[in-house]
Amino acid sequence: MSHNLLKGKKGIIFGALNDKSIAWNVAERAHEEGAAFVLTNAPIAMRMGSINELAEKCNARVIAADATNLEDLEKLISESMEILGGKIDFILHSIGMSPNVRKGIPYDELKYEYYHRTLDVSAFSLHKVLSTARKLDAINDWGSVVALTYVAAQRTFVGYNDMADAKAILESISRSFGYIYGREKKIRINTVSQSPTLTTAGSGISGFDKLEDFANRMSPLGNATAEECADYCVTLFSDLTRKVTMQNLFHDGGFSSMGMSLRAIQQYEKSFRDCPPIGEDIPFDEKDVEKFK
Ligand SMILES: NC(=O)c1ccc[n+]([C@@H]2O[C@H](COP(=O)([O-])OP(=O)(O)OC[C@H]3O[C@@H](n4cnc5c(N)ncnc54)[C@H](O)[C@@H]3O)[C@@H](O)[C@H]2O)c1
Repeated sequence: MSHNLLKGKKGIIFGALNDKSIAWNVAERAHEEGAAFVLTNAPIAMRMGSINELAEKCNARVIAADATNLEDLEKLISESMEILGGKIDFILHSIGMSPNVRKGIPYDELKYEYYHRTLDVSAFSLHKVLSTARKLDAINDWGSVVALTYVAAQRTFVGYNDMADAKAILESISRSFGYIYGREKKIRINTVSQSPTLTTAGSGISGFDKLEDFANRMSPLGNATAEECADYCVTLFSDLTRKVTMQNLFHDGGFSSMGMSLRAIQQYEKSFRDCPPIGEDIPFDEKDVEKFK
């Protein structure tokens, strides 16, 4: 149902790969709410994904850009202003990738060249986008920028690997830039910390199905879906949240405030029979031992 929350607003949406992507869902909702926007993704994602299908549905133009490349970003933002007929009002940063996770390299043995790439793609890219937008004076006063993050920035989750470090940096960039952009132009910058969601990036995390089930049992409202995340992002782009900035906003059904839930304890009790004494813990699936180191 549309409330015309984004009527007249213009934006750039990074990260729609396929219809599972959080950014895809945000684009569909933003379109429903009356926004006009440009869709962008890395050149390689243009070949792998189905972004053109989304573009057609949303009447949006697609511009390829590697979010780690400043020239690409400058071209993307300048062309977007031309296409949309002026400055933009919102940006969605929905980008994440770790070569270490992809290759199953455990945290204590990270390959540093991959680690740099993880941080560049998943965190520094937000700084690059904001810095380029500011240089081009591309965002209207009272504009809004949202980046997607995960609670592994605050707590340790087995298997999330160097992406946890990237998310901690991403959240810090949103605060540091939020101060500068807020002070100068009343532009707000927030991160949305989303529940585990079955997407291409999500399913790359080892043990993802168990993580998703655990979060669901722990959350009083259950995991938040990609569609629900899109609803939340739309409110953050709208004029209804003009004084919310520099925040990490948990959109996770209550997970981040829980210690132990009844549903999780009931499931945990079932495994007591097979559970080794403390100190002799084994991962829940022995064949995964290497992956979970
Ligand atoms: N899926 C989850 O469980 C979950 C939970 C919390 C937060 N998030 C975050 O949500 C965001 C979106 O991920 P998703 O789950 O929708 O998965 P996704 O795989 O659909 O999206 C990730 C996107 O990043 C893009 N990308 C990678 N490298 C890029 C580059 N160099 N330049 C530009 N784009 C690049 C990919 O092409 C892809 O479109 C990520 O920041 C992710 O960490 C996901």
